[in-house]
Amino acid sequence: MEFSYLNPTRIEFGQAKISTISSFIPKNYKVLFIYGGGSIKRNGVYQQVVNSLEEYTWYEFSGVEPNPTKENLDNAIKLAKEKNVDYILAVGGGSVIDGAKYVANSYYYDGDGWDILEGKHISTQALPIGAILTLAATGSESNTGSVITKSETKEKRFFRSEHSFPKFAILDPDVLKSLDERQIVNGLIDSFIHTCEQYLTYKHGMLAQDNYSEGILKALLKLASTIENKDDLWYANLMWLANQALNGLICLGVPQDWATHYIGHELSGLYGIDHARTLAIIQPNLLRVLKEHKTDKLLQMGKNVFNMDTQDPDEVINKIENLYKSLGVELKISKYTDDKEIKEKVIPLLKKHGFSEFGENNIVNSAIVEKILDKSI
Ligand code: NZQ
Ligand code: ZN
Repeated sequence: MEFSYLNPTRIEFGQAKISTISSFIPKNYKVLFIYGGGSIKRNGVYQQVVNSLEEYTWYEFSGVEPNPTKENLDNAIKLAKEKNVDYILAVGGGSVIDGAKYVANSYYYDGDGWDILEGKHISTQALPIGAILTLAATGSESNTGSVITKSETKEKRFFRSEHSFPKFAILDPDVLKSLDERQIVNGLIDSFIHTCEQYLTYKHGMLAQDNYSEGILKALLKLASTIENKDDLWYANLMWLANQALNGLICLGVPQDWATHYIGHELSGLYGIDHARTLAIIQPNLLRVLKEHKTDKLLQMGKNVFNMDTQDPDEVINKIENLYKSLGVELKISKYTDDKEIKEKVIPLLKKHGFSEFGENNIVNSAIVEKILDKSI
């Protein structure tokens, strides 16, 4: 067990916390307020933010899309530079917060921000970010990740930077009440699979990480089974669990396997499928193809998470898949696109993005991806 751990994001969790943002942003700072397609105008969050920014000079950039694009965000970089802003306030889900990270890191770079996604430029500085989270799923509000799409080439790529950690994140669970069922389900599934990517590998004996992951998974199962009866506590639990699943804690010193995510990102880039839904399609089939490598952990998950008494990893995989089915998710790519050349596009794109051998112990190669896609199309 060896790791280095830092998570500097201040979390302000609870109802009516949006009004506290002025405690965390210096009053003389010029703020760029970034948000998405308008859900915050319908649920009252926009007005709460505007009230809280009363004493500031601020500018707004709206229209960050789900699966945010570089082309759109480049306009936000331009605005930030023109106005010499000092701080970015991102108000939205993972897409808006990821977009803010792209803008914040590109601000101090004279070249094309996409260079950061391609690893051609490593950012050494970023504008400070504050996040007001409106969708619980990605953990972006207190992690270093950012996933951006280049619409010109339909490539979806990610970068990580310590400079991307938001300085603070406001988590007011009331804000989640305006989400539709599709986004709530996406949040549950994304959080569940984030935890699996850091847990469903092979036996390692790190007790804190294993037990904490199992706790998160069991809690998410409980939320899934009570999704018809959501109360204040339900939303609060989802918001905190989604954060805990990807705030950099449960991965410390343990093997990880993000292959489901990397394949899923190509599917979102190519076909615009919701991030969580790409994961729900791919993960059960990836587990089937790699079950020899993951048998110990699958059986451990069966026992400790699903309370199953089985020695058959397939039964555990079916249980996971049934969870996604029970939440109404379509589990075939062909339900989302008519394209007949899915494999022909996904496999070369993965290679282009540096994923020739990936996943735990680099066991996922093109032949394995092909098998996974054959089961998923
Ligand atoms: O744009 P608006 O109008 O705000 O509507 C959004 C959007 O249409 C809506 N929404 C958000 N909060 C709402 C709301 N509607 C009603 N009430 C609210 N309170 O929900 C839609 C989806 O929002 P989005 O931000 O795209 O969803 P999510 O948080 O699931 O983010 C997905 C993005 O994050 C990336 C994904 O790849 C995808 O691009 N990820 C980021 C990660 C990270 N930074 O660590 C890790 C993840 O694995 C993931 O890859
Ligand atoms: Zn995810």
